[in-house]
Amino acid sequence: MIGFCMTGSFCCFEKSIAVLEKLLEKHDVLPIMSYNAASFDTKFGKAEDFRNKVEKLCGKKIIQTIPDAEPIGPAIQLDCLVVCPCTGNTMSKVACGICDTPATMAIKAQLRNERPVLIALATNDGLSGSSASISKLLMRKNIFFVPFSQDSPFKKPRSLVCEFDKTEEALKYALLGKQLQPILAT
Ligand SMILES: Cc1cc2nc3c(=O)[nH]c(=O)nc-3n(C[C@H](O)[C@H](O)[C@H](O)COP(=O)(O)O)c2cc1C
Repeated sequence: MIGFCMTGSFCCFEKSIAVLEKLLEKHDVLPIMSYNAASFDTKFGKAEDFRNKVEKLCGKKIIQTIPDAEPIGPAIQLDCLVVCPCTGNTMSKVACGICDTPATMAIKAQLRNERPVLIALATNDGLSGSSASISKLLMRKNIFFVPFSQDSPFKKPRSLVCEFDKTEEALKYALLGKQLQPILAT
């Protein structure tokens, strides 16, 4: 089973759900959401609508509390945990060893089991506030990235976003313990 964890990069939710639909063609998927992903209504849509859509697609209740995510360590064996989209906030917390959301709990639990985590990042501060965190995660065992690049170098010069349509391929590599290359999308 694959874990699919959404965090609060709301502008990427539609792309993320398209990735989820693709993964569901081949995998049983356990959905997880950070507190903020599960609860914020934004200009990109209502939280309840996204939750309903994800639960209907997966045919499972979303894990959306820390106690419900904790069993991913001792009891629920995930072949890979895909964090899609992954915010700068969640990456930075994981880089610092902070575990205070269902997303960071799921990631910590998966890493405890020495199993792969695949990060599909999207953050406007990828080349500023979050860059040190991304670098730290690049050096961590069992953390892999969907290839990413600057999405709008002149309008948002510090922003990085992954190529969501490469998530499935990156997952194939992560399941083998490998990083899909090139990691910096061209
Ligand atoms: C409309 C909206 C869009 C956002 N887009 C992003 C984004 O693309 N990337 C990001 O890192 N944070 C984004 N944020 C900020 C995060 O939602 C915020 O840092 C939040 O605390 C993330 O929590 P989480 O990582 O636990 O989901 C956005 C916030 C809002 C309200």
